[in-house]
Amino acid sequence: MSGLSREGIEGLRNPLARVVEVHGALTSTQERARELARSGTPHGSLVIAGVQTGGRGRLGRHWGSPAGGLWMSLVLRPEFEAGFAARITQTAAVGVARALGEVGVEVRIKWPNDLLAGGKKICGILAESMVRNATGPAKVPRLEYVVLGVGMNANLDPEDLRVRDREVTTIRSEVGHDVDLLSLLRALLSNIDDELGRIEDFEAVLEEWRNLNCTLGEEVRVRRFGETVEGRAVDLTPEGALLLATPGGAVELFEGEIEQMVREPRLESGD
Ligand code: BTN
Repeated sequence: MSGLSREGIEGLRNPLARVVEVHGALTSTQERARELARSGTPHGSLVIAGVQTGGRGRLGRHWGSPAGGLWMSLVLRPEFEAGFAARITQTAAVGVARALGEVGVEVRIKWPNDLLAGGKKICGILAESMVRNATGPAKVPRLEYVVLGVGMNANLDPEDLRVRDREVTTIRSEVGHDVDLLSLLRALLSNIDDELGRIEDFEAVLEEWRNLNCTLGEEVRVRRFGETVEGRAVDLTPEGALLLATPGGAVELFEGEIEQMVREPRLESGD
């Protein structure tokens, strides 16, 4: 895989790359990372594939993963309670947005897990958590592990992704040249690690998320569990849920397929 080797990645000495696997091709780095997590691999285990033959997106969708992308999954064993799990996607999104900024791509975060450049998807994030049964006197459920997948459209052309239902872009097409995947990975790991370090003080992450997002203030339609909710996206809650103002009152959403509705043109007054 161009520019990425296990030795090179280990040389980054990043706490999120303590155990590294680099594969030419895999069904899905998410599945491999989950296998490793189940067999006890430590926090900071990283799986990368040059090509995924069965890459998965959110809601069980297919994720096209041809050569040239950065397809990776991290095993995290965060020390915080399971109630914070919903914050992980947004926290990682802030880290990924900062990393993309460092390689010259300005992005916006579309709730819950998309990174958009010029309105087109350039990266998707998939956080899957396993909760440990509550033990001890406090009986607070903890996280056993989280598999954090990042699908970055890097050194390829948008057409290579064969996505027909929405507009996508790639780093190559945004900056006009290929990027060094090891430098991109260094930026991703160090920014994700920094942001995860602030997850318990979520207000700081939230502040950054609010500055980087393109969802708040929009009229949206969200499909989840077979129903549709419409309203105005007003905020992200401290739990990591999207807060919608709907005609029936406030609704908090942790998951869903979001569509931004076209605004009615405002009538200009003459004065
Ligand atoms: C989404 O936007 O729906 C999330 C996409 C996540 C894709 C990444 S690519 C690396 C990892 N392996 C997978 O099979 N999926 C994630």
